[in-house]
Amino acid sequence: MNTHTLQQISLLNKCNNFTRAREIQAAGLYPYFKPLTDSDDTVVTIEGKERLMMGSNNYLGLTHHPKVLAAARSALDRFGSGCTGSRFLNGTLDLHEQLEVRLAEFFGKDAALAFSTGYQANLGLISCLVGRGDVVFIDKLDHASIVDGAKMSYGDTHRFAHNDLTQLERLLQRHQDRGMMIVVDGVYSMEGDIADVPALLELAQRYGAVLAVDDAHSTGVLGPKGDGTAAHFGVADEVDIVVGTFSKSLASIGGFVAGSENVIHYLKHHSRPLIFSAALPPANTAGVLAALEITEHEPERRERLWRVTKRFQDGCRSLGFDIGPTRTPIIPVLIGTLPDTFAFWRKLFDGGVFTNPVVPPAVPPDQCRLRASVMATHTDDQIDQALEIFGKLGKEMGVI
Ligand SMILES: Cc1ncc(COP(=O)(O)O)c(C=O)c1O
Repeated sequence: MNTHTLQQISLLNKCNNFTRAREIQAAGLYPYFKPLTDSDDTVVTIEGKERLMMGSNNYLGLTHHPKVLAAARSALDRFGSGCTGSRFLNGTLDLHEQLEVRLAEFFGKDAALAFSTGYQANLGLISCLVGRGDVVFIDKLDHASIVDGAKMSYGDTHRFAHNDLTQLERLLQRHQDRGMMIVVDGVYSMEGDIADVPALLELAQRYGAVLAVDDAHSTGVLGPKGDGTAAHFGVADEVDIVVGTFSKSLASIGGFVAGSENVIHYLKHHSRPLIFSAALPPANTAGVLAALEITEHEPERRERLWRVTKRFQDGCRSLGFDIGPTRTPIIPVLIGTLPDTFAFWRKLFDGGVFTNPVVPPAVPPDQCRLRASVMATHTDDQIDQALEIFGKLGKEMGVI
């Protein structure tokens, strides 16, 4: 055996010795990578059976909206299936520029820049702006793309306990002489609680830090026209940067950063995840433009989303479930240990309801949960059906 092979074996040991997922698969409890063979927003087909989708981020139910589909089809016919290159070079379409103008208007900023995923938008924003000697402060429950953006930057990263603004203030005081950026989720993706943006803004302004809010789960959900967390609190003008995704309410894939003209211009010329990756495909870009239009002009969808949210939240609480501090359509139902959570997930799945289990390291070992989420297109009957089975299993398994 030569040295090369020996090194390879030790590098691959972690793969060869990784048995945890296979054990769960063998027990029939594996909840991940389940292929959908059909989807109609709220009802999906998995393993040959229709199930109620209670785990999607399609909050406004726009993935099947006729205007979104028509816009996507027409862009497909006009530009073909892909951009085959970076925005920086051959990959910019007039559609991208139209979308960026729309996004800037929608979020009340000077300019915006579309990325190919929300993950890349956070990488591209943070790694590009937080340079050597600068500091980025992130909430412990921030999304992985914020954590990874911070890791990819040349600056220092400090994490503060979830929503602990006293700790954040101490950190800001300690680093006042450096370039500072605070990045938070507007709505936390696993808890469903809303960041205290006015208080964060006050701190950012007092210490001269840049504030960026990730509106992945707030776009289409919070704000007078679905324009996100800062708008929800009436401080859209003051928050420096909004970052977000097209993969949730906007029913597509892609992400964006919105901010001042200078910031966007700088990102366009320095952000590696933008420059060294191919542009958002034509059909997706056009679909997002249509979805933004609908978000703004069909407020009844958002109203319906909040009615459905209340119905499911109230139902869970009155059954006796602990759903934590959620104030949004993300409704995490606390189950307990990992084995109990997978078992509960499986029984729900067998009963025709799809949810997403959240287990360590995302949460402490005794606080595993099933992350349910609702859509504007859920009917009251569907919500009641989900509550009925949640309640039945909750009692059967001693959760409630
Ligand atoms: C808060 C937050 N930011 C960013 C992302 C990444 O978005 P995308 O799916 O577009 O990569 C997500 C996705 O789950 C998210 O929840």
